[in-house]
Amino acid sequence: MAIDVILGLQWGDEGKGKIVDYLAKSYDVVARFQGGPNAGHTLKFDGKKFVLHTVPSGIFRAGLINLIGNGVVIDPTTLKKELENLDSAGFEYRSRLLVSKKAHLILPTHRYLDAANEAAKGKEKIGSTLKGIGPTYMDKTGRNGLRVGDILLDEFQQRYNNLKQKHLGLLEALPAIDFDLEKEEKNWFGALETLRSLKLVDGEYFINDQLSQGKKILAEGAQGSMLDIDFGTYPYVTSSNTVTAGVCSGLGVAPRTIGEVIGITKAYCTRVGSGPFPTELEDEMGELLRKEGAEFGSTTGRPRRCGWIDLPQLRYTIMLNGVTQLAITKIDVLNIFKEIKAATHYFYEGKNRMELPYDLCGVPVKPFYESFDGWQQSLADIHEFDELPAAAKGYLSFLEEKLGVPITMVSTGPERSSLILKNVGAEV
Ligand code: GDP
Ligand code: IMO
Ligand code: MG
Repeated sequence: MAIDVILGLQWGDEGKGKIVDYLAKSYDVVARFQGGPNAGHTLKFDGKKFVLHTVPSGIFRAGLINLIGNGVVIDPTTLKKELENLDSAGFEYRSRLLVSKKAHLILPTHRYLDAANEAAKGKEKIGSTLKGIGPTYMDKTGRNGLRVGDILLDEFQQRYNNLKQKHLGLLEALPAIDFDLEKEEKNWFGALETLRSLKLVDGEYFINDQLSQGKKILAEGAQGSMLDIDFGTYPYVTSSNTVTAGVCSGLGVAPRTIGEVIGITKAYCTRVGSGPFPTELEDEMGELLRKEGAEFGSTTGRPRRCGWIDLPQLRYTIMLNGVTQLAITKIDVLNIFKEIKAATHYFYEGKNRMELPYDLCGVPVKPFYESFDGWQQSLADIHEFDELPAAAKGYLSFLEEKLGVPITMVSTGPERSSLILKNVGAEV
């Protein structure tokens, strides 16, 4: 059995939570492999709405096991809040939620460092979600971090104190920020008790054992490929590998275990935070996309920047991830548009090009567009691909042809049920 992967091909918020929640019914295990509470994955079903940050999006499917993998960074306080939401909605998860002992912990001081680092950057700030992600991964790679398994050790408090002192020293050299460490520490240590009460496992053994038992596993990405630490629009990126390769290191599985890679893209494009965005619309068209798509961050509430779909960008992330199927989300957001555009290539350094430059931050690229007639009708009652308006089918066929990967899912609304399957019979 293989591990199938779902990940975002743009700058995040492509609708990963919705698609994972839909597909989870066909899997035995859903596993998060990177990122942390910077993620906000929205799920809507039976008139209910949930936003998950750390918990995998398979949690609402009875009987399905959800693993928070070693590549994830966990803030116990955020996790506790998420679990309280599940408790109050009456969902049983305790027997089905596993946490890798090798996942790293976000300390309160990691969040302060995030805020102080951003303040120090001034106008150049990343636009971080300020959840402590960067400083926590820095401590991981700097070999100073604390891991979930460490909370079971007698010397945990001492190790916490040592790391906290180091952080307080670093904070002295950065712009001052307001914080109440005593209060936050109290909450954090309280939340550690919740974490301690969960099933803490050797995730790599668990997942490989599931594989050898023939179980079906779905790896759920967070963020998007353009926020990848190596291949994204550096330095305006997150601090983990968001691409398929991150599944191997973030769960402890071999590359040959990777099966289908489902890449998700919106029918247009968004970005939240700073950094280059070649097809951004800073006009009333961009405003309209934001309004129609309700494009406000699931984690921070910030307005998302909006623009047209960008084919050179998508071809790049399809290549990096080895995408075998495409899911197109939020096509309904385009319902009211008379004209829809897609960037087909860029012009920079004197030539038309399909490739991204080394540094999108340093090389201004000029996108060229192809235009399409809109369909100007609701898609709400359409459940078969063939019933889509001709203009919508035309737009989707164009994307499929230019991107060279079959579209297997088209999402027409935020609800779990608003999904059209295409090429049914494809391996999902
Ligand atoms: P994720 O981070 O990739 O899981 O995406 P988010 O949850 O942050 O953002 C996607 C937003 O779009 C959420 O509010 C979803 O409820 C919503 N959404 C997902 N799919 C669709 C769709 O096909 N149409 C519309 N209109 N909204 C969608
Ligand atoms: P999901 O999983 C959209 C962006 C932030 C910022 C940059 C670095 O919901 O798609 P960080 O907090 O990681 O230091 O922020 O990355 N970012 C996201 N944008 N969706 C996300 O997650 C994101 N997670 C981080 O806005 O620009
Ligand atoms: Mg999101």
